[in-house]
Amino acid sequence: MTDAVIPLADLRYAAQVPLIPTLLPPATGLLSDRLGRPLRDLRISVTDRCNFRCSYCMPKEVFDHQYKFLPQTSLLSFEEITRCAGLFAAHGVEKLRLTGGEPLLRKHLEVLIAQLAALRTPQGQPLDITLTTNGSLLARKAQALRDAGLQRVTVSLDALDDAVFRRMNDVDFPVADVLAGIQAALRAGLVPLKVNMVVKRGTNDDQIVPLARHVRDHCGPGVVLRFIEYMDVGATNGWRMDEVLPSAQVRQHLHTAFPLAPLDPTAPGETAERWRYTDGGGEVGFISSVTQAFCRDCNRARLSTEGKLFLCLFASRGHDLRALLRSGHSDEQISAAIGSIWAGRDDRYSELRGLGTAVVGSGERRVEMHYIGG
Ligand code: GTP
Ligand code: 5AD
Ligand code: SF4
Ligand code: SF4
Repeated sequence: MTDAVIPLADLRYAAQVPLIPTLLPPATGLLSDRLGRPLRDLRISVTDRCNFRCSYCMPKEVFDHQYKFLPQTSLLSFEEITRCAGLFAAHGVEKLRLTGGEPLLRKHLEVLIAQLAALRTPQGQPLDITLTTNGSLLARKAQALRDAGLQRVTVSLDALDDAVFRRMNDVDFPVADVLAGIQAALRAGLVPLKVNMVVKRGTNDDQIVPLARHVRDHCGPGVVLRFIEYMDVGATNGWRMDEVLPSAQVRQHLHTAFPLAPLDPTAPGETAERWRYTDGGGEVGFISSVTQAFCRDCNRARLSTEGKLFLCLFASRGHDLRALLRSGHSDEQISAAIGSIWAGRDDRYSELRGLGTAVVGSGERRVEMHYIGG
């Protein structure tokens, strides 16, 4: 299949309008990419906006008041998102994660969640629906999200100390409000809840133990704290290897305060390596995409806010599904196009970076995290 490359109206990222295969094989739920990986997880970005300016994701100098976010008309509507998600479910997707930017900034998100909650896998099971949020609006919205059918949430939280947290979000947002959001989510039953901490050496590495202690003491053993290596995603965060604190070191440090023992993985392709506190205090995770790539079983696809499908977090070119959605193609046609795109996938950026052979298409910008989601 050859793809036409068309420039985007807003010149954001390169994208191709997928060709519709001549034959339209029905979805079997058994897709496999060129490296033998199934498609199980769809991450849907519902807005490219965020009320935080974390330096590793949306540095203030770049994402200032002049930055042009996507206009409303570019965004996929809830009906378009649900239609896409249904086609992906038929292809074997079992988990949907709503991301942003900050997904809770998208108006009436609970309406979308209710639509997605009605989808079923080919075996008749509901999908696992979750959401990644910075927690700033969670205290207000947790119950409505739960009522709409959201099952669980992941909250990003990089520090317990208020001054460090305000510095990291770079909009002076108080940590107490995020902690209150986590408690509201727990009360609403959005569990198991995960807390994600991106660790930057020299910036918040002194927060590892305090945050772990807080989660153990105030959230209960059902809440899993995960430490994420600072990644070279996008092109604006000024990433430097010397600011990455390898997971092995985070783990050793945590172990001195709270002894740890390894746990077996629960599912193939999962991002986090799981450990448990030996005193029964619960579980922690380490996401090590820099020092220990996990591309081999990567079963994740990403749908951007304006309907471009990306096959890797580090991709520089998407597949313009919105163009198909808005030009009257049938479900069978779009489904066949998705199947054909996945069958051609050979992305494994982190693995290649580890080998020193990662390349980015010449003249093409890598997608940014706020645009594609975590
Ligand atoms: P669960 O279903 O809750 O286990 O979700 P998850 O661990 O798959 O997803 P989550 O969104 O919580 O991912 C946590 C973080 O891992 C993200 O914010 C990213 O920093 C990183 N991450 C997730 N997926 C990928 C991936 O495919 N590649 C790389 N390199 N990093 C990823
Ligand atoms: N490195 C690692 N994780 C990142 N995230 C955003 N940017 C980066 C980065 N450069 C992830 C964080 C955050 C989520 C929304 O995206 O996990 O919690
Ligand atoms: Fe916003 Fe999350 Fe990016 Fe921080 S990491 S700027 S909270 S989208
Ligand atoms: Fe998947 Fe790309 Fe991340 Fe590897 S780098 S795990 S292929 S998203």
